[in-house]
Amino acid sequence: MIPIDLLTAIKARRSIHNFKSEEVERDILRDIFTYGSYAPSHYMKESWNIRLYEKNGKKAFVDAIIASYQRIGMLKADDDPKTQKMIASMQQFLLQIPHHALIYFPKEEDPIRYEEAYASVCAFIQNAQLAAWEYGVGMLWTITPYMHDDGFATEVGLDSETEKIAAVMQIGYPARIPRDKGRTPIVDKMAFVSE
Ligand SMILES: Cc1cc2nc3c(=O)[nH]c(=O)nc-3n(C[C@H](O)[C@H](O)[C@H](O)COP(=O)(O)O)c2cc1C
Repeated sequence: MIPIDLLTAIKARRSIHNFKSEEVERDILRDIFTYGSYAPSHYMKESWNIRLYEKNGKKAFVDAIIASYQRIGMLKADDDPKTQKMIASMQQFLLQIPHHALIYFPKEEDPIRYEEAYASVCAFIQNAQLAAWEYGVGMLWTITPYMHDDGFATEVGLDSETEKIAAVMQIGYPARIPRDKGRTPIVDKMAFVSE
């Protein structure tokens, strides 16, 4: 592990879209998500849960994604060679990503508590992304339509009545690091109110 200053990591971290085939060791993944878990959470609820799909475990996960895309009409469900080609290329793309981390949390009835839970899970994700960067591990935070499909949740063994998917993190060692797109100067979005 090469130590990077926290402030440097905050600016240097990039969303990774291309991964090497090499897997990340389990101890490193545990460390990364341990750092994630030092995120703040209201009432110390620590609402985050992680399920990591890797090796052969990715197959059923990817099948559930494709079935969901077919259910919600983003992919056709026929034997047309064009459809089959599209499915095969989606499978290939998703299976070559070393790890997929499904991040979910217990649903809260109260909308305010729900927001608090989701906010803390997002803090957890960003902490984990920064820790990962320090270990040389890349992540892509994804929110895709299948996460809102109850059928998908059921297929991966979650209870959509009581559990909410927050994100799926694609994880692996970066094959390519995208350029820094920079940020809008914060002064454009910042006001001091002193009276
Ligand atoms: C809540 C959330 C959802 C995102 N979903 C996606 C996604 O589905 N696909 C994707 O390519 N990037 C996704 N991103 C990554 C952003 O595109 C990325 O953070 C942004 O372009 C800035 O790039 P950087 O992270 O490299 O600085 C998501 C980011 C966040 C915070």
